[in-house]
Amino acid sequence: MTPPALSLTDLSKTFPVGRTLFGTPRASVKAVHPITLTVPQGQTLGIVGESGCGKSTLARMLVGLLEPTTGRIEIEGAALDTADPAAFGKRIQYIFQDPISSLNPRKTIRQIVETPLKRLHGLDRAARAARISEIFASVNLREEFLDRYPHEFSGGQAQRIGIARALAANAKTLILDEPVSALDVSVQAQVLNLLADLKREFGLTYLFISHDLAVVEAVSDRIAVLYFGSVVEIGPAERVFRTPRHPYTRLLADSAPVVGRPLTAPEAKGTELPDPLDPPPGCAFAARCPRASGRCRTEAPALAAVGPDHEAACFHPLEAAD
Ligand SMILES: Nc1ncnc2c1ncn2[C@@H]1O[C@H](COP(=O)(O)OP(=O)(O)OP(=O)(O)O)[C@@H](O)[C@H]1O
Ligand SMILES: [Mg+2]
Repeated sequence: MTPPALSLTDLSKTFPVGRTLFGTPRASVKAVHPITLTVPQGQTLGIVGESGCGKSTLARMLVGLLEPTTGRIEIEGAALDTADPAAFGKRIQYIFQDPISSLNPRKTIRQIVETPLKRLHGLDRAARAARISEIFASVNLREEFLDRYPHEFSGGQAQRIGIARALAANAKTLILDEPVSALDVSVQAQVLNLLADLKREFGLTYLFISHDLAVVEAVSDRIAVLYFGSVVEIGPAERVFRTPRHPYTRLLADSAPVVGRPLTAPEAKGTELPDPLDPPPGCAFAARCPRASGRCRTEAPALAAVGPDHEAACFHPLEAAD
């Protein structure tokens, strides 16, 4: 049996905030509560959630930019050594939201794309040039761009360069953190099509983070809905928004997905997310939930099966036909 591309076990992150005179943290913020999930090879897991729910914190742990507080990360069945950044780079790569500022402005495109070929794979000059030609062809960029600098490119071109850099590392798993949010709608479609082609061509696995429901539904095999640092629902992409089982997912889905519209639930207006410094004892969604009972305010529900390959963290899940 092939191991999953990505497997997370109880992965969490707590940030210390504020310092006393003695340097000890005053308080802590649990940005990501323990998350356990797997992504099979060749699939796309979409992650949706409102601003501040922990999407980027999760992504940054997966690529070694942030040390997890608890838990473990396995890629293709082998644990990632969180102390060795180069080991991450060969197996998992990060594509950033803001394509131009994610490229070093003082380096040419050739230098940017060559770095992983040199550092991670130790290729010589001729091998690097051959590999760059191949990669540029797969992301539809002309080789004459190689001696230019990042500021000379449009957002869509810069994002394709970012994708080329990730491909150069030869990693099979890509973490895409809002990869098209900064782009015009017409350019978004081009980049999404390119990502779909590359996934097919190279058998890539994606973790696709976005606050845009329509985009996530279109690109994902499965979708995880994040609320206040926890996965509240996870299931097949075609079911999660069509027959949501968690009241929070229903609220999101009811705000009619429109491409490019930011994700804020209608009733969320005026109703803030819980205070991360003073989280509620029970379900984090209880204060906004029409179905909440006394139990929801004192006890936090765990993810439980609600259907085939479909889980929700709710004591009173919606019926499939509700
Ligand atoms: N370095 C840090 N120190 C303290 N708190 C942090 C730090 N980074 C993130 N947080 C907190 O962790 C929570 C999750 O933040 P994160 O950036 O992961 O959210 P997000 O879902 O990516 O939001 P957005 O959609 O706005 O990008 C927030 O409450 C944020 O304030
Ligand atoms: Mg973010």
